[in-house]
Amino acid sequence: MNKIWVIGLGPGHPDYMLPIAKIKLSQADRIYGGKRHLEGLDVEGDKVKLLIPLQETIQDIKKYYKDKQVAVLVSGDTGFYSFLETLKRDFKSDELETYPGISSLQYMFSRLNMSYQEAFIGSVHGRRTDLDQVFNKNVCGLLTDKIMTPSVLVDEAIKLGKSGWIHIGENLSYEDEVIASYRLEDYKERTHSSLCVVVMTFD
Ligand SMILES: C[S@@+](CC[C@H](N)C(=O)[O-])C[C@H]1O[C@@H](n2cnc3c(N)ncnc32)[C@H](O)[C@@H]1O
Repeated sequence: MNKIWVIGLGPGHPDYMLPIAKIKLSQADRIYGGKRHLEGLDVEGDKVKLLIPLQETIQDIKKYYKDKQVAVLVSGDTGFYSFLETLKRDFKSDELETYPGISSLQYMFSRLNMSYQEAFIGSVHGRRTDLDQVFNKNVCGLLTDKIMTPSVLVDEAIKLGKSGWIHIGENLSYEDEVIASYRLEDYKERTHSSLCVVVMTFD
């Protein structure tokens, strides 16, 4: 029986996709992904399906995956806050085959020439997080969102008596990538891309 391939694309730019991901995409009959994931990929137009709306996509995958080779694209790494967990609500593990990619945070640490083995690694994207616990580590790497922005994270860190640095990575791996670093006390509220991760280091 065909398994559904869940393929991690890396941070976004095709140069950061693993060769196995490119091979699997060339072999798939139907490819589901978000608009950003599908842009810039060298795949035939009629194989490609947008991942929205969710329930229709799931029904569509159910209709085709037994007879056609289906691939679902997710951003970054499959194992780090990806669409994999959503798929697992509707498909059993043995119906899926995942191919990991480079996470946006892994890429960000690399751009800063930093290691992350001692860091708190997580996400404030769409979830409540105990920041006290997060900021207890000397280093943290976080996925952000429109509510938990770099500015909110700086305010919270200062409220908790922290000093140190925030490194903000926007549109990582793309041509308009911006990485900027500020001392917490010098950071002034500003608007960031919706594709944004932070690394914070405390004194
Ligand atoms: C649903 S999560 C997916 C995380 C992904 N699985 C990973 O390993 O990076 C989406 C969040 O990932 C981050 N993200 C993904 N791609 C990014 C990029 N190219 N630049 C900056 N942040 C990115 C942003 O924080 C975004 O809100």
